[in-house]
Amino acid sequence: MDSPKDLDAFRNAVWQRLSRGVADRRAAARNPVLSTVGLDGAAKARVVVLRGADASGGRLEMHTDAESQKVAELTREPGATALVWDARAKLQIRAEGALQARSGTEQEWDRVPAAARRVYGGTPHPGKAIAAPAAFAPSEVPARFCVLTLEIARLDVLWLGPELHYRAVFERGDDWAGHWVAP
Ligand SMILES: Cc1cc2nc3c(=O)[nH]c(=O)nc-3n(C[C@H](O)[C@H](O)[C@H](O)COP(=O)(O)O)c2cc1C
Repeated sequence: MDSPKDLDAFRNAVWQRLSRGVADRRAAARNPVLSTVGLDGAAKARVVVLRGADASGGRLEMHTDAESQKVAELTREPGATALVWDARAKLQIRAEGALQARSGTEQEWDRVPAAARRVYGGTPHPGKAIAAPAAFAPSEVPARFCVLTLEIARLDVLWLGPELHYRAVFERGDDWAGHWVAP
């Protein structure tokens, strides 16, 4: 990534990388780490697939099983972070905001590749103890296909430039204008 000439260029570079993550399975932003607040109050983190990046709305989208622990967690505490490290661009993106869960629509379910549908369903529910890996029975349950939307409130971005480290914070409340901060 070239040295961003101003805050607008920096923010645009971030959204470009996020969009690439949605479109290209080899892009770094394909697999953010999504962090939530656990029911025990401790931070919980897991890798997910980035399914949508809406720059104008300031939103990211991911898909999950409605019975997964993260859905119970965000129902109690929606505060969440999606973290991306793009090693080639030397760019860290921390997108913080409120994570909401809703049922996927029929049209959205139709777009899920057939081979991927088995991850939305299965018995017992994710995280439950089983006697052995083979004791889990996968199945397609469209009602458990859940769309997660992170409504970003704050983007904290760090670029490891060759001379200087650039860090900026962009906030929804500030209309994403952004300001530089010490790295
Ligand atoms: C490369 C990779 C991609 C993943 N993508 C997703 C995903 O898109 N959605 C999802 O719910 N879990 C995904 N997982 C599994 C999660 O990391 C996690 O194990 C699972 O969702 C259960 O998390 P939870 O118990 O915290 O809810 C992925 C794991 C890996 C390694």
